Amino acid sequence: MNQIRFDYGNMMAARLEGGVEAERLEGDLADRFRGAHAAVAEWAAAGDLGFLDLPYATDTVDRVVELADGFAQWFADVVVLGIGGSGLGATALKEALLGPFWNARDEEEREHFPRLHVVDNPDPHTFRRLLDQLDATSTMFNVVSKSGATAETMAQYLVAREWIESAVGGDKARGHFLFTTDPAEGALRQIGDAEDIPTVPVPPNVGGRFSVLSPVGLLPAAVCGVDPHDLLAGAADIVERCRTDRLAENPAGLLAVLLHHADTEHGRSIHVLMPYADRLRPLASWFQQLWAESLGKAVTRSGVSRPTGPTPLAAIGATDQHSMLQLFMEGPQDKVVIFVEVTDPEIDVPIPERHPGIPALAYLGGHTLGGLIAAERTATAEALRREGRPNATLVMPRVGAHELGQVLMLLQIATVYAGALYDVDPMNQPGVELGKRLTYGLMGREGADRPEIADPDPRWVL
Ligand code: PA5
Repeated sequence: MNQIRFDYGNMMAARLEGGVEAERLEGDLADRFRGAHAAVAEWAAAGDLGFLDLPYATDTVDRVVELADGFAQWFADVVVLGIGGSGLGATALKEALLGPFWNARDEEEREHFPRLHVVDNPDPHTFRRLLDQLDATSTMFNVVSKSGATAETMAQYLVAREWIESAVGGDKARGHFLFTTDPAEGALRQIGDAEDIPTVPVPPNVGGRFSVLSPVGLLPAAVCGVDPHDLLAGAADIVERCRTDRLAENPAGLLAVLLHHADTEHGRSIHVLMPYADRLRPLASWFQQLWAESLGKAVTRSGVSRPTGPTPLAAIGATDQHSMLQLFMEGPQDKVVIFVEVTDPEIDVPIPERHPGIPALAYLGGHTLGGLIAAERTATAEALRREGRPNATLVMPRVGAHELGQVLMLLQIATVYAGALYDVDPMNQPGVELGKRLTYGLMGREGADRPEIADPDPRWVL
C-alpha cells in the first residue's frame, strides 16, 4: 500500500541551525502533545469531531455512490455551487484526482463521465460566462451548503433554478438539482423535502472545512469516476496511525507540534504549504482555509481574550520559486515551509537533447520535466536549510485517491491538535458571523437590521 511520509529532518537541530533538539521530541514537546492529544480525544468523545468518523460512514458512501453512478450520469455537466468549506474540498479533489483540463477533454478521454465545475464566488462575470457555455437541458447543479443559508450559494441557486426552469419548464427543473446539506435544518433541506429533490446529508458534527471526506467532497469526485472508498481507506489509515499519544509515532502530532513550536518559540507564524505539482495547487488553498479559520481566534478555550493564530500561505513549486522564494530565503525569519513532494508523477515528459553547443540548454537534454521539478524541490529545501530556514516535506508516492485521503486526514487531524496546542476552539468561526449579518442587513433579509455604515471622515485620492 502506498504510504505518505512526513519528513521533518530539516526542522531538527541535527540538520538546521536553531532547529529543534531531538530530546525535546521525547521530553517537553512530547508532554505538551500528550495534553493536546487528550483534549482532542475528549472533543471526539463528546461527538464534536465528526470528520474522524467519516472514513467509516459506509451508509453515506453507499448513498454517494448510488447518486453519482446513477442520477448524476444523466448529465453532461455537473456544477457544484458551494463556498468556503463547501467548495474548496471539491476543487482540491477534482484537480488532484481528475488532473488538469478535465473539462476540455473529450467524452472518451473522460470515460463518458460528466464535466465538473465548482463555483464558489458569486462573481457575476464567472457565473454568467459559465451559464452561457452550458446547455441547461444537460446540466445538473449540486448545491452544497451545510447551513442551507449562505448568501452566496443561495443566490447562485436561485439564478440556476430560474435558468434551468426557463429551459426545461417548472416541472422538470427540480430533476436538475441535487442538494448536499444538513440532515434536518436549513432552507435547502426544506426545499429538498418539499420538492422531492435528492438530498444527501452532511453530518451535523462535521464543520464545513472538515467536510471534504463527507458527501460535500465525495459526491462531486465520485460523479467523475473517483472511488470514494479509496479516499476513505487512506483517511482511515491516518486516523488509526494518529490514535497514539506518542509524539514520535504520530504524524499529525509532529506536524502540529513542530509548527506550533516554530510559531510560539521562534516567531515563525507564517506556515506555507507548497506542493510541487499543479494538481495539488487547490490542496494548498484548501489547507489555507482549514488552518486560518480553525486557528485564528480572538479568545482562548477558557474565555481569555488573546488574538491567536498562525497565518497559512498557499504557494506552488516550482512557479513560486520565481515569486515568493526570495522572501522565504532572505525575508523575515517568520516562516516554515511545508513542501509536498510527489515521488511518481505518473505522466512524465522527456526533455529532448538539442542545442548541444549551448550550455544553458544542453544539460537539460536527456532529463524529464518530472525530474526537473523534483530536483527543484530538493534544491529549494536544501537551500532553505542552509540559510537556517526550517522546512519539512509531505511525501506522496503518487497523487492517488488513497494517498490524497491520507494527506487530507493528516492535515485535518493536525489542525485539531494545533487548536488544542494554541488553546483555541478549532471547530467554530465566530469571526465571520458579523460580516454575514451585515451582508444580510444590506441585502434586506427579514429580521436583519440594516447597518449604518457611516463614514464621518471620508478620505479619497484621485
Ligand atoms: O468552514 C466553514 O465552516 C465555512 O467555510 C463554511 O463552509 C462556509 O461558510 C459555507 O457554509 P455553508 O456550507 O453553510 O454554506
